[in-house]
Amino acid sequence: MHDFHYVGKKLFCEDVSVESLAKKFGTPLYVYSQRTLARHFLSLDRAMAGVDHLVCFAVKSNSNLSVLRVLAQLGSGFDIVSGGELQRVIQAGGEPGKCAFAGVGKTEGEIEFALRKGVYTFNAESEPELERINRIAARLKKTAPVAVRVNPDVEAHTHKKITTGTYENKFGVAFEQVEAVYARAARMRNLHLRGVQMHIGSQITQVQPFEQAVRKTLPLVARLKARHGLEFFSIGGGLGIVYEPALESGSPEWWKSAAAKNILTPQKYADKLLPLLKPLGLRVLMEPGRFISGNAGVLVTRVEYVKRTGKKHFLIVDGAMNDLIRPAFYDAYHEIVPLVRRNGLLVKTDVVGPICESGDFFCHDRPLPRLCAGDALALLSAGAYGFAMASNYNTRPMAAEVLVSGRKAALVRERQATEEIWSGEQVAPWLK
Ligand code: LLP
Repeated sequence: MHDFHYVGKKLFCEDVSVESLAKKFGTPLYVYSQRTLARHFLSLDRAMAGVDHLVCFAVKSNSNLSVLRVLAQLGSGFDIVSGGELQRVIQAGGEPGKCAFAGVGKTEGEIEFALRKGVYTFNAESEPELERINRIAARLKKTAPVAVRVNPDVEAHTHKKITTGTYENKFGVAFEQVEAVYARAARMRNLHLRGVQMHIGSQITQVQPFEQAVRKTLPLVARLKARHGLEFFSIGGGLGIVYEPALESGSPEWWKSAAAKNILTPQKYADKLLPLLKPLGLRVLMEPGRFISGNAGVLVTRVEYVKRTGKKHFLIVDGAMNDLIRPAFYDAYHEIVPLVRRNGLLVKTDVVGPICESGDFFCHDRPLPRLCAGDALALLSAGAYGFAMASNYNTRPMAAEVLVSGRKAALVRERQATEEIWSGEQVAPWLK
């Protein structure tokens, strides 16, 4: 459930008309609902209340400082994958002691920084990484808390670019090798074996792959706990969200419908996993990104041109694949709705951006109301991996971001000035 809905003909985010934000702050514009962020965090946190747990928001899905602050104030931990993300969390008021540092390629500099700040755990993905962490910790006269990421080799049944828990993927340590790796790590003097971690993929819409991965890993985790006195088991992120019909999924009525019966909810997730996890007696960590931020954000864009060719009806908008790459990259579906609702016939429409690539599209042949130049649209469920994956391709400035809470709205990231894009560049001396 989320807080984007029509009031009369106008699309609102909480109690603010989205068109008023588009007028005030310009487009393309990301708009986030604080209430949705909080509701999604709390629904998962409460569903897991039966065990000692920590929800670590995956910063990679949305790293805006205000978004992180909202979650930090609710007590969230953070799943981070770079020194930069740790700096952001600290800047936003989050606690390093609630951060899990993941990723296959942690650099010396990043490890040292995270050690000095006191992260809760380094989730190591290989033996050379454990050796590196141990070496740096020794140099700093510290003990580094670590967990090894187990690759459980289960199929997550999601898009291949976001499947991470099979042996085709670069992630984690193969299930069969994990115990030997722990045994060797136990002999590294500056490591504290704190936990064990896994993550099988993203946008997983059924509970079955999670259950299968937990069931498969549990005996191993129990053995590791007995042998090394572990403290936590991180079951990763990956909870999927509703992309279609995104707008209806904002209403409580829709959640009572038959269509909603199949949707993965925190309750279903907890009902299946808690009975398995409880007897283990370990603290449970989760690393959800999309589940918390996905439905909490939209990308607002305005129609520049309507172009009809013999075959197609195009809406050429001012947002592009540099602002939201998910359709181009994963063929992802984002529901598209006008900010002012229109009645009348639907027209099969391609919504495309101005970038010089055919991949720069938001939808193909989608039935949409007939719109004109100047009308604005919202791409729903764009709060996760939207702005976070934006780039300056085609020398397009990064979009602005706004956070809404009730009747209040604030610019939480200003639109990038065009000159900022090349501010770090210089002309080579021999060209001057
Ligand atoms: N933990 C680890 C170790 C991860 O690699 C990820 C995501 C997460 C947690 C959070 O997953 P989530 O709960 O958000 O599904 N850009 C893609 C998604 C990439 C996910 C990468 N890893 C997309 O737009 O669909």
